[in-house]
Amino acid sequence: MSAVAIPGVDRILFTEEQIEARIRDLAGEISEHYRGKTVKLVGVLKGSIFFLTALARHLEVPVKMDFLGISSFSNKSGAPGVVRIAKDLDESIEGEDVLLVEDIVDTGFTLRYLLQTLAGRGPNSLSVCTFLDRNSRRIVQVPVDFRCFEIPDRFVVGFGLDYNQLYRNLGCVAVMKVERGG
Ligand code: IMP
Ligand code: MG
Repeated sequence: MSAVAIPGVDRILFTEEQIEARIRDLAGEISEHYRGKTVKLVGVLKGSIFFLTALARHLEVPVKMDFLGISSFSNKSGAPGVVRIAKDLDESIEGEDVLLVEDIVDTGFTLRYLLQTLAGRGPNSLSVCTFLDRNSRRIVQVPVDFRCFEIPDRFVVGFGLDYNQLYRNLGCVAVMKVERGG
């Protein structure tokens, strides 16, 4: 699907070609880091799927994968940051070298929750790889070991990221015309 024809899309931030090239580089870095080990990619549904599969194809170490689904919502005072696991992993991560794969790290609430939860399950190691990083909006400090792109404070869609569940299948990352609500 081409982004140019989509109503609501302002401009393309990263083209399919730029994404592919950057993922290949990042996969090289990650392969180096896990040399001699098997990495278990843990994908956060649904946003990270496109990134995870693209990354996995370029990794040069043995790869396992598992997925979890979360739901996040605001608490009564309207503050963000309440996260829970809606669909858990199929298998144990005890003793595994886990690489948590996210679509985007924004405020950091989701990642903090996931890291706390997964760390309690006894992995041999636990690292984080995110497709996009919007560091300017961080509220809680979280470790990000690998990132594809740093992005400006604009709402983006494509390559897994959605707006009301739409646009995930765009090959590029595009900036939405609508300003984010807050
Ligand atoms: P946070 O880091 O807990 O604030 O939340 C990150 C989650 O919010 C991501 O996993 C996305 O699901 C969603 N999100 C944040 N920014 C965007 C965006 O620009 N486009 C689409 N989804 C976003
Ligand atoms: Mg997400």
